[in-house]
Amino acid sequence: MDFHNKTVLAPMAGVSEPVYRQLCREWGADIVLTEMVSAEGLHYNSERTFELAKVYPGERPVGVQLFGSDPQKLGEAVAIIESFSAPDYIDLNCGCPVKKVVGKNGGSSLLREPKLFAEICTAMVKSSKQTPVTVKIRSGWFTHEWVDTEFAKIAEDCGIAAIAVHPRSRAMGYTGNAFWERIKAVKETVNIPVIGNGDILTIEDAKRMYDETGCDSIMLARATNGNPWIFRQIQQHLAGETPMIVTLGDKASTARRHYELFLNHYGPAKANKDMKKHFMWYLKGFPDGAELKQQFLSAESESDFSRALDAMIEVCD
Ligand SMILES: Cc1cc2nc3c(=O)[nH]c(=O)nc-3n(C[C@H](O)[C@H](O)[C@H](O)COP(=O)(O)O)c2cc1C
Repeated sequence: MDFHNKTVLAPMAGVSEPVYRQLCREWGADIVLTEMVSAEGLHYNSERTFELAKVYPGERPVGVQLFGSDPQKLGEAVAIIESFSAPDYIDLNCGCPVKKVVGKNGGSSLLREPKLFAEICTAMVKSSKQTPVTVKIRSGWFTHEWVDTEFAKIAEDCGIAAIAVHPRSRAMGYTGNAFWERIKAVKETVNIPVIGNGDILTIEDAKRMYDETGCDSIMLARATNGNPWIFRQIQQHLAGETPMIVTLGDKASTARRHYELFLNHYGPAKANKDMKKHFMWYLKGFPDGAELKQQFLSAESESDFSRALDAMIEVCD
């Protein structure tokens, strides 16, 4: 697995499901990741957990992200995932700030436990037959009490193949600005590839992330919402080409295709519920956006959504 000069779709719980990953791959994401998958859930054979860990041929290269806090269960989870979905790599979540995950000592909670982190990395690498194991970290539990370089070094020593860094503390949640200089510090500490993440909102940010941090690859989460073209635009910008222009018509037709793919994959009940947030994202910058948003929010059936999509396309004519 090559982690150099790649534009990566970040894991996003409730967002980075197979249809989203496919769309992002089509619009230029070099690598995609599943949302986080519970090692406990795999251990207890939870059907829903296995569903999250499924990967599909069209989306490779794809990583499956695991979370947990028990080295033995995470080691087992690597073996289970290798035989269940054989992804191109397996990633450890060491950044999630939410209480449900942190309360069980997973996600960013591991940033307070270097010894446990080392045990988990070792167990995962040992258990893997051939799949590279990577980690994704925040920079620390508390702001300015950074542990990212220490954790990157531990990860490298344990045989981890690459490290993604979101340079916020757990305490920051998603507020404030990401401390990109921490990505630079990690890059200067380890020899494994470093993937820079956090606050890449525009194509210019993507270039700046490379220039300012020296990172090997970049990873985007929120800027891709309703905006999968950003991957292609970033690649064009980095190559010195003029980035493609995305019209409102392109947005409307991609929104329709997204809905159709979602319907096909999950059926109407889930599509009509889960697609609403995507439509809100696609509608950013639309004239009469508020009215259209209301139409999507009150839609209940396939025909309601179809009418709302027709209205969205009409606005573009
Ligand atoms: C809705 C949402 C869900 C997320 N879920 C995960 C997750 O499952 N695993 C993970 O490592 N990070 C998760 N993240 C964090 C992102 O991967 C990323 O690190 C963070 O959003 C910063 O990148 P950005 O500024 O490009 O959004 C999530 C972020 C958001 C907004």
